[in-house]
Amino acid sequence: MTQNLYGSTSVSVLLNNYLQQHEQNHALPSNLTDVLNSISQACLHINEAVRAGALNNILGSAHTGNIQGEEQKKLDVLANQILIDTLSTQSAVAGLASEEEESFISTNQKGQYLVLFDPLDGSSNIDVNISIGTIFSILPKPAGELKTESFLQTGRHQVASGYVLYGPQTILVLTVKHGVAMFTLNQHNQFELTEENPSIPVQTTEFAINMSNQRHWQAPMQKYIAELLAGKIGIRGKDYNMRWVASMVAEVHRILIRGGIFTYPQDQRDPSKPGKLRLMYEANPMSLLIEQAQGKATNTQQNILDIQPNGLHQRVAVVLGSKEEVDYLTAKHQNC
Ligand code: AHG
Ligand code: MN
Ligand code: MN
Repeated sequence: MTQNLYGSTSVSVLLNNYLQQHEQNHALPSNLTDVLNSISQACLHINEAVRAGALNNILGSAHTGNIQGEEQKKLDVLANQILIDTLSTQSAVAGLASEEEESFISTNQKGQYLVLFDPLDGSSNIDVNISIGTIFSILPKPAGELKTESFLQTGRHQVASGYVLYGPQTILVLTVKHGVAMFTLNQHNQFELTEENPSIPVQTTEFAINMSNQRHWQAPMQKYIAELLAGKIGIRGKDYNMRWVASMVAEVHRILIRGGIFTYPQDQRDPSKPGKLRLMYEANPMSLLIEQAQGKATNTQQNILDIQPNGLHQRVAVVLGSKEEVDYLTAKHQNC
């Protein structure tokens, strides 16, 4: 029993209690619990750095580039190092792959799991104090020597995934493939269960897309967004609202809470780049959460979780959220 800041009392379920319950009820391996606890510990450190901001001299550029050719912020580099340092000491982790690292990192030979992460999602929002996050995906380690191919498993093979959102509240959201659980960081710096099994409404009137890329979109996306913008007088027969935070964690969190559709499409600029988002560090972990909350995620051709990866840093088009809206947009791409 705990008393919160406003005097109300309730029985609190902490992250570790939740995971232990799942060990019992769903035969969740205890070493997977250890890995998840380790990730949450690393994210507590990242959270401290985020909260201190300029006081900790963590804002601004690191003046380095990552494997994707993107400029790294100081916080991208710090969050990446915190996750590597924390997870390397975890005996159940055999290897790591990060958006910020060129190649995978081999950790403990006898480990059973691989952890893949986007250490800091929404980097363009760091310096302006808008929600950012950490995204993670856990895969089983295949037998044999660890190599890049060990990581190239479809999203369906994930045993768990989640994110930590550093927003007005710090929120950890995860799935161990028995629904989705949301934990809010309490005043004792513990993750406390605050919502279980959110269910994404199948219909929506809210969409998220970076409209500044409109001129580059392919024809089906042009037609779809035009239909939404036409509102009540168009063929969809209802008015739509738009949001764009530019942090995928914040967009996915909004969709888990109240539904919506989020898309970062492939466009006509560079045919070798199928979209901006990364399959292994962003699309797969988020798609597992979305499916576990009765939503849907596709690349406009197939379910994201069924895509056979061909590289650690592979990019992918993403459409995710409310099931009927995702089906509508996906079908629009297939019928032309
Ligand atoms: P990251 O900061 O890890 O590179 O990811 C940013 C991603 C994603 O979070 C967001 O949806 C998208 O990039 C924003 O892109 P734009 O700046 O093109 O809007
Ligand atoms: Mn990202
Ligand atoms: Mn990132």
